[in-house]
Amino acid sequence: MRIGVTYDLRADYLARGMTEEETAEFDAEITIASICRALSGLGHQPVRIGNVSALTAHLAESDRWDAVFNICEGLNGYAREAQVPCLLDAYGIPYFFSDALTLAVSLDKGWTKRILRDAGVPTAPFAVIERAADLDLVDLPLPLFVKPVAEGSGKGINAHSRANNRSELKERVLEVMDRFRQPALVETYLPGREFTVGIIGTGDIARVLGVMEIITTDKAAGADYGFENKENCDQNVQYRLVDDAQAVAAGDVALNAWRVLRCRDGGRIDVRNDSAGRPHFIEVNPLAGLNPEHSDLCYLAGFKGHSYQQLIGMIVDSFLRRNPALQYSTAFAA
Ligand SMILES: Nc1ncnc2c1ncn2[C@@H]1O[C@H](COP(=O)(O)OP(=O)(O)OP(=O)(O)O)[C@@H](O)[C@H]1O
Ligand SMILES: [Mg+2]
Repeated sequence: MRIGVTYDLRADYLARGMTEEETAEFDAEITIASICRALSGLGHQPVRIGNVSALTAHLAESDRWDAVFNICEGLNGYAREAQVPCLLDAYGIPYFFSDALTLAVSLDKGWTKRILRDAGVPTAPFAVIERAADLDLVDLPLPLFVKPVAEGSGKGINAHSRANNRSELKERVLEVMDRFRQPALVETYLPGREFTVGIIGTGDIARVLGVMEIITTDKAAGADYGFENKENCDQNVQYRLVDDAQAVAAGDVALNAWRVLRCRDGGRIDVRNDSAGRPHFIEVNPLAGLNPEHSDLCYLAGFKGHSYQQLIGMIVDSFLRRNPALQYSTAFAA
C-alpha cells in the first residue's frame, strides 16, 4: 500500500515559540522516521504528509494514498484529534486508528467517563467544574484528584494534583481552569496500583497486548504519572510487565472500555486501583505515543518480545482486517 503519514512534529511547534509542555503531545522526528521505516520493512510505501495544514494542501492538489497512518494530535479545540480523520472521511480515504467521533469524545475525559459509567465500566466518581461556583456542588469525599478535562501527556498533573482538603481543592481547580482555559475534572483519588494496558485490534477481535505496571521511584515528583515524571521517566519511573490477578482484572476493564468507545487498531488505556484493589478506568489513549525510545506502548511491546516493526505490523494487520479490499489489492500487487 502507498501509505500517507500524518503527524504533528514537535520541533516545528517549538520553533514557533511554543513551550515544552505545550508541545508535549507532539511527535519527535525519531517517531516519524521509525514508523516510516517499519512500514517500508513491512513492504509498504510510506509517504510523509505532515500536519492538518499539509494534508489540506496535498488534498487540494489531488494527491491520494491507499490509506493514511494518522498520529496527528492537532492544535486547536477539543476536537483537535478529530480534524485529520474528518478530512480523510470527507475524501473517502481510509485511515489507521480510531475514527473522528471516538477521537473527539475521548479527548474529553468527563464525556468519556460518562459513557463508560453508563456502560457499566468501573471509573472513579467525578465532577466536571466549568465555573468556580460549581465547586460548592461537589460532595465527593476527599482526597480528590484534579486535572484538566482535555489534555494528555501528563499536562497539568504534578505532585499537587491531589487535593486533601476543600481549600486545596479550590486552589487546584482554579489553577487548572486558569492555566488551561478549560474545565477541571475532579475525581476520587485512587491510591492503588497503576497499570497501562496495551490493546491491539478493533471490536470483538481486539485483545490485550500486555499489562504494564507503572511504579514511581523515590526520585519521582509525586506518586502520580504526571508531566515531569513522564518527561524524566528514565529516573522517575519503573515499568514492569505483570500478569497477576489484579493485572488481568485491569486488562479486562481496559478491553471493555476499548470496545465501548469503539477504538480501533491499537492504543493504550490507563487503569488505577482503588483502596480495595479494584481497577478503575482513568483514561484512554486511542492515539498512543509511538516513540520507540520513550512511549509506553513501545516499552510494553518490547517487554512482550515484539520488535518495533512487529508492533507496527500488528496495527497494520488490524487496519487491513477492517479494510479487506485493500488487503486484496496489496496481496495482488505483491
Ligand atoms: N483519580 C486519580 N487518582 C490517582 N491518580 C490519578 C488519578 N487520575 C490520574 N492520576 C494520575 O495522573 C496520571 C496522569 O493522568 P491521566 O492518565 O488522566 O493523564 P494524561 O495526561 O492524559 O496521561 P497520558 O500521558 O497517558 O495521555 C495517571 O497516570 C495517574 O498516575
Ligand atoms: Mg494517562
